[in-house]
This record gives sequence, structure tokens and C-alpha cells, in this order.
Amino acid sequence: MKLLVVGSGGREHALAWRLAQSERVHRVWVAPGNGGTAREPKLQNLPLTGIDELAEFAQREQIAFTVVGPEAPLAAGIVDHFRERELRIFGPTRAAAQLESSKDFAKAFMKRHGIPTAAYETFTDAAAARAYVEGRGAPIVVKADGLAAGKGVVVATSVGEACAAIDAMLLDNRMGSAGARVVIEDFLEGEEASFIVMVDGRNVLALASSQDHKRLLDADQGPNTGGMGAYSPAPVVTPEIHAKVMREIILPTVNGMARDGIPFSGFLYAGLMIDGAGQPRTLEFNCRMGDPETQPIMARIRSDLASVFEKALDGRLDQAEITWDRRTALGVVLAAHGYPDEPRKGDPITGLPVNGNAPDSDCLVFHAGTTEVDGRILTSGGRVLCVTGLGDSPKIAQARAYQGIDAIRFDGMQFRRDIGHRAIARKR
Ligand code: AMP
Ligand code: GLY
Repeated sequence: MKLLVVGSGGREHALAWRLAQSERVHRVWVAPGNGGTAREPKLQNLPLTGIDELAEFAQREQIAFTVVGPEAPLAAGIVDHFRERELRIFGPTRAAAQLESSKDFAKAFMKRHGIPTAAYETFTDAAAARAYVEGRGAPIVVKADGLAAGKGVVVATSVGEACAAIDAMLLDNRMGSAGARVVIEDFLEGEEASFIVMVDGRNVLALASSQDHKRLLDADQGPNTGGMGAYSPAPVVTPEIHAKVMREIILPTVNGMARDGIPFSGFLYAGLMIDGAGQPRTLEFNCRMGDPETQPIMARIRSDLASVFEKALDGRLDQAEITWDRRTALGVVLAAHGYPDEPRKGDPITGLPVNGNAPDSDCLVFHAGTTEVDGRILTSGGRVLCVTGLGDSPKIAQARAYQGIDAIRFDGMQFRRDIGHRAIARKR
């Protein structure tokens, strides 16, 4: 069968690479793909991004099913559109994708269904928002309601900083329509984890837990980014906490969406804050897999992933199972010069594997912001590569990833040297 993966990041490279390992899969088209998917056996880039043209392609090529990586096409209704044409596609409808595309929708939903999350209020009026912040005190968190590519959240340590964020979003229109409404919520303390599940509208299959590193610099300093590295599993998600997350967050969300008449299908990603007493609370929902969390998660899958998607598309996820490599997988992002503000493009990259990633390698190089030009790979975006090591402990997985990085060079390359530090500290 032929499959289609929509997107061009490290997440989509990892997904397509794992899907291609199924013997029944002959080709995975990646639209538009990147320099890494261009070189991978069985993967082929497809220079299309419009929903109509993708649907036409899927129809013409008799694509067995499509998997959507990023949130933007989901929020734009790609799933509704494909379904109207009776094309099989894994992802939420535009209405269900509001769990990610509107923070106000997600917060109101959680409140209505008793799902643990920080207390909040939503505002369109700056004076009212400021008054709320003054009453509540700092630290406090100001979030743009709409999609803001990871730039819409300000964790304010003072009332002044929170008010500046409110003014930037509501008065100065700094985030455009995404910031025309703001959610203001209490600051939560604890350790973060990414909890991602597959949903078929009713049944849930949990993927392995993971943890991302959002800040640019070592020791979680510097500006927020899309994610500078991730590993799986995340030891903070103990079996007890896993059960609690399923019982108190994931199942009530899936059941609540169904009851509200907007059943959720696709990847559901709960960004969690787990406090010292082991209580998880939802910081945010995403309606897709995480990037870079997908890279270590895909590195650990030992099952035929295409069959899992088929079960999901048939509404039979209750009959699906995934076998996991019990080792830790740990991915380190190599970012371009100037990332996250103004990433430079066009730097040649050397030292990359030539023929893609072997299925059983313990060091995998997933591409994101890269492009192939005349046989050379050049940087073409902020997060360039994610080098993912596998090992019997977080420490060994970390060493494998950094060994892999030793061979790779491009001008201005930036990366963190401490990916996995929480897991490593815990294991001691
Ligand atoms: P979000 O996009 O909503 O996940 O927020 C981005 C980052 O901001 C999260 O990964 C957290 O590190 C931080 N954050 C968001 N909400 C809160 C909160 N209520 N308390 C503490 N930190 C938060
Ligand atoms: N790595 C965080 C995200 O994908 O949202």
C-alpha cells in the first residue's frame, strides 16, 4: 500500500520512516518533506501543501491512508475535507482540533468536564485582564487564545510583566487574531511531561511517555523554543501517574468530546505538569504528536505501525497494541544560527548518513529544517536535525546521541548539552 504523511519536520520524518518499515507499505509520500525524507528508502517527497491538491493526489494515487503531522492543516479542516471525499485520514476534524487551536475552548471544556488544570479566566478587554492579574498576583501565566507557533505563552514572574504581555496581545495586536483573546491562568509548579495517545473517536491507545526541553540553553535557561530535545520514556510518569492521567485526564477528555457531539480522533497530546504529590494537571492539549517527542517515540516502536493506524481508522483501537523497545531513546535537536528569533538558512551540512536510517540502528538522524540541493543538504529552517540515540539507560542513550552529533557539522550549529538531565538525575 501507499501512504501519505503531511508535514516537513522531524516529527514527519520519524513517522514516515517508521511507517515505511511495514512490509505491506511500498511507498510513503511526504508532503512537502525535507532533505532527510528525500534520501530515505521507500520515502518520496511531494511538493504539495494545499488541502485540495493533497486530497486530489490521495484520490488519484489510491493512498491507503493519510497521517497529518502539524496542527495548521488540522485546524484548517484537512480531515473534514478528506472525509467528504471518503479518503481515509488520521486526525481530528476542525471542530475537534479546537482543543489545540483555542485555549479558551480547551479550558472551558476542561472546566465543564472536571479535568484537572490551572484555574483561569478569559479576556478580550485589557483593563479587565489587568485588574484580574492585579487581584491574583504573580507568578501568573498569560496565553494567546489562538495558534501562535509556540510563541503565545508568557510565564510572568511579576504583575508588571503579565500586564505588558496583556497589552502586547490585546492592545498592540502583537499576535494578530491569535491574541485577540487571552487566557490568564494560575502558575503551576512541578515537572512537565508529554502524554500522547491515539484516539479513534472512542477507544484510546497510549503511546510511550516522553519529556521535551523547551528552553534554548542548558539548565533550562534562555528563550522558549519549539523544543530542543526529548526522550522517552519519562520516568516522572510512574505507572501510578500513568493510570491517574488516563483516568482523570485522557478518558474524560475523549468521553467528554464524544458527549459534546465532537468526537475526537487522531493524536491527543496532553502537556502535563506533575506536582510533588504526583497529581497531574493539563497545561495544554495538542491535537497532534509532539516535535521533537515523536522522534524518540518512533525510535522505540517495534510493532507494525501501519497496522495500528488501520485499526484506528476502523474504530478498533481497542484491539491494537504496540510493542516498545524497553530502552530509552533520547533526541538532541541541532538548531540553526539565530534560532529561535531569526534562523539563518542555506548553511551546508556535512557528516550526515547518506542512505537514511537503518531500522535497527541505535543512532538515528531525523531531519527537520533541511533541503537537498544538487546532492548537498543545506539548512532551511530553525530546528535542523534531531539526532536520536537508544541505550539501556538515559545516560547511555544520551552518550549515543552526542556521539552521533560529533560527526555532524554546519556553521552556526547550536544544541543543548544536557538533554535528559532530569531522567539522569532520577536514575542515580
Ligand atoms: P503551553 O504552550 O500552554 O504548553 O505553554 C508553554 C510552556 O509554558 C509550557 O510547556 C510550560 O513550561 C509553561 N506553562 C504553561 N502554562 C503554565 C502554567 N499554568 N504554569 C506553569 N507553567 C506553564
Ligand atoms: N514539543 C512540543 C510540541 O510539539 O508542542
